[in-house]
Amino acid sequence: MRTGKLLVLTLLLCLLSCMPLHSEAKEAVILDTDMVDLFDDGVAMLMLAKSPQIDLLGVTIVIGNTWVETGTASAIRQLEGINRLDIPVAVGLNRLTRAGRIEHMATEKKMFGRGADPHLGAAGYPEPTSWQAAYRANYHAEPKGQPVNEHGVDFLIRNIKARPHEITIVSIGTSANLAAAIRRAPEIVPLVKRVVYMGGAFFQQGNVMPAAEFNFWFDPEAARTALRAPFKEQIIFPLDVCEKIHFTAARYQEVKSHLRNPLFQEMFAHHWTKAAFDQDKNYYTFVWDVLTAAMLADPTLVTEARSYPVDVDTTYGPSYGQSLAFRGYGPEGTQTAKIVFSVDQDKLWKMIDNLCESL
Ligand code: BDR
Ligand code: CA
Repeated sequence: MRTGKLLVLTLLLCLLSCMPLHSEAKEAVILDTDMVDLFDDGVAMLMLAKSPQIDLLGVTIVIGNTWVETGTASAIRQLEGINRLDIPVAVGLNRLTRAGRIEHMATEKKMFGRGADPHLGAAGYPEPTSWQAAYRANYHAEPKGQPVNEHGVDFLIRNIKARPHEITIVSIGTSANLAAAIRRAPEIVPLVKRVVYMGGAFFQQGNVMPAAEFNFWFDPEAARTALRAPFKEQIIFPLDVCEKIHFTAARYQEVKSHLRNPLFQEMFAHHWTKAAFDQDKNYYTFVWDVLTAAMLADPTLVTEARSYPVDVDTTYGPSYGQSLAFRGYGPEGTQTAKIVFSVDQDKLWKMIDNLCESL
């Protein structure tokens, strides 16, 4: 009897030792975004929402590409498209750190150099009266979902505190929400697992300005606050990697052929890239933010990355918003971030095609 019990116990112990100590936990992610339809913020959100490796805890909307009313409408519309209205959308900041700047952005561009890309984001069109008005205007329908009744900055702070050391923040718009969360509750900084950004242009020219990339230029002070916070880990996908991947007319057709869901087919048919490719078949653009989500879904995507102390120039002038990487030590207060320089492009496009099939 005793021998029998011992045998059972030994067998049980053997079985337990063969099992992983804990089941492969999903990565908890909050997406902080200046949301647009599909490429690029939308595809990043859809990829995170669909990835079996990721638990998308919520989407916080920030000004940048779009006013938060437009971004909120777009996030709700796309989550409706994949039946994931359970993912909370929290409306965040609609203003920049430098008060009154948004009204002068066009002038600022003229003063300090125009950049290769004329994009002005929210500064290029009037603020919608509400997110519902933006939804009706853009989709000619009534929204089925709605944002949660909590500000995006509060959403970030509350969730980070509730799950210390577990949450990855994916920052693919301006850093206004993130910087406000850091200022209001600095105790959250050591509790964040890591921050993954799309932003900056470190060893190459900018896009919307000669020296600056859009996300960091739109609110340089906020980007500086975020990058200087002593997070455990910061990973940046700047233009240095994003502009190596060309979104061409052929790629547009390829993506289109993989879309099955009528809501996204319709969205893609009206996407701004369609008009650009119709006008010039040799035109190409980029998929920026999608890289951050793809890396989280499959970390083997990244083929080259190096660590540098980083910063953002906040001197008002031609280098306003320029991202800086220092080859040795950085100025007092700077932190080290991992900058991504190359990804496996075939893998990335396969992931995008598979995502489109699955929508
Ligand atoms: C970045 O700016 C935004 O327009 C894109 O969504 C991306 O996050 C590229 O500079
Ligand atoms: Ca973006």
